[in-house]
Amino acid sequence: MSSSAPKLHVDNVSMTFRTPTGAFAALAPITVSIPQGRFASLIGPSGCGKSTIFNIIAPLLRRYGLSGFEYLYPSSLSGGMRQRAALLRTLLFDTDVILLDEPFGALDAQTKLQMQEWLMALWSDFGKTVLFVTHDVEEAIYLADELHVMGTRPGRIIAHIPVNLPRPRVRTSALTPEFLTIKERCLELLDVNLAPSAPVNEAA
Ligand SMILES: Nc1ncnc2c1ncn2[C@@H]1O[C@H](COP(=O)(O)OP(=O)(O)OP(=O)(O)O)[C@@H](O)[C@H]1O
Ligand SMILES: [Mg+2]
Repeated sequence: MSSSAPKLHVDNVSMTFRTPTGAFAALAPITVSIPQGRFASLIGPSGCGKSTIFNIIAPLLRRYGLSGFEYLYPSSLSGGMRQRAALLRTLLFDTDVILLDEPFGALDAQTKLQMQEWLMALWSDFGKTVLFVTHDVEEAIYLADELHVMGTRPGRIIAHIPVNLPRPRVRTSALTPEFLTIKERCLELLDVNLAPSAPVNEAA
């Protein structure tokens, strides 16, 4: 299913927004390469530029009229679970590359897990190339063959991490030492345990 030939290659792409207060460098030059048939997760803290990368790839695809690509914004996955699953099935069936920007972000925890299973099952049937944007570390690892981890100020890729966990994956895959090692590394990179610079006094 996979090969080393890149299906999606973003080479040295940066983004600066003009704002009323001046230029804002949202993305430092970014390079990402996703081989055909691979499932890649793009993960990073809020505001690091995940959607900016997503949008850059999605305008480019429109501008050059490339067929066989599809992208999906979070709000596109509203509706019942059957409708969502049908939409995913259609996208995975019809297109070579699918871009998903936090598609399950607004779902309740249980539905989110079910949708992840749907996506995995469909992806393994169709073997398409996927770029999946999320800020949920566990979701990113569980689904992916490879993680691209972003940092902020400016938004940039700070690590490419292979996820060599066997497939098909099951929920208990998230309890294996291999999974936990990757999760620990991601949390470290994302600084989620970073303490406030000064103690917060919560007493009245
Ligand atoms: N059109 C715009 N004009 C100015 N700044 C923008 C614009 N779009 C995004 N930004 C800024 O660029 C940075 C990256 O935004 P982006 O939406 O790509 O982040 P994100 O990683 O997708 O965040 P989230 O996890 O919250 O979805 C943010 O600081 C955001 O405020
Ligand atoms: Mg976003």
